[in-house]
Amino acid sequence: MDQNQLKQLVGEKSVDWIKDGMIVGLGTGSTVKFMVDALGQKIQAGELKNIIGVTTSKVTAKQAQQLGITLKSVDEVDHIDLTIDGADEISAAFHGIKGGGAALLFEKIVATNSSKNIWIVDQSKMVQDLGAFPLPVEVIPYGSQKVFERFEAKGFKPTFRKKEDGGLLLTDSDNYIIDLHLEKITNPHELATYLDQQVGIVEHGLFLDLVNTVIVGEQDGPKVLEAR
Ligand code: 5RP
Repeated sequence: MDQNQLKQLVGEKSVDWIKDGMIVGLGTGSTVKFMVDALGQKIQAGELKNIIGVTTSKVTAKQAQQLGITLKSVDEVDHIDLTIDGADEISAAFHGIKGGGAALLFEKIVATNSSKNIWIVDQSKMVQDLGAFPLPVEVIPYGSQKVFERFEAKGFKPTFRKKEDGGLLLTDSDNYIIDLHLEKITNPHELATYLDQQVGIVEHGLFLDLVNTVIVGEQDGPKVLEAR
């Protein structure tokens, strides 16, 4: 199986965790796309009724709407039973980097308001330590050059994320993304605390102590890991 097939495998498998009547957070990305498709099929077949989806990006909202999934915003629900999302890296300690699809802000809001979080990934995302994948940081445009310069001075090797046409990428909330090329994050909590304290940073892609269950796509099938 290639990477895309592994993503499909875990995307489809994860729908087993969705039970009738649940309010479900719907993540973002190519793996989640398979999950949302599978959820839409189950709803259309009448196997799941009364599902409410809470989406984490405009892209996922569009897909879910086309499939007829009822949607509410995070502010319109009193709880979220379960959120299923992808990840860019998951460490041995079950910390994650997210935001490769630039949706980290809404993803973190939905994840932190969920009773349970499941991440679905192909096996290439499982690592010992985080950091080979560039860490996305969402910043407001005003003063973003100053934030960038502070990152440079810290040796974080920042780059502004760009679109294919060379212009700066804008998130769903009209912010910029600065990617930090850190190679290895030895103390993710310390880095998260630093980033949380910087003016102009809206959110960062370190998702620490958040995930409950990881479903990994491996060649011999999906493997379910429970975080400690
Ligand atoms: C989007 C994300 C995605 O979940 C992450 O980038 C994984 O994406 P994919 O399933 O396409 O590999 O964090 O902001």
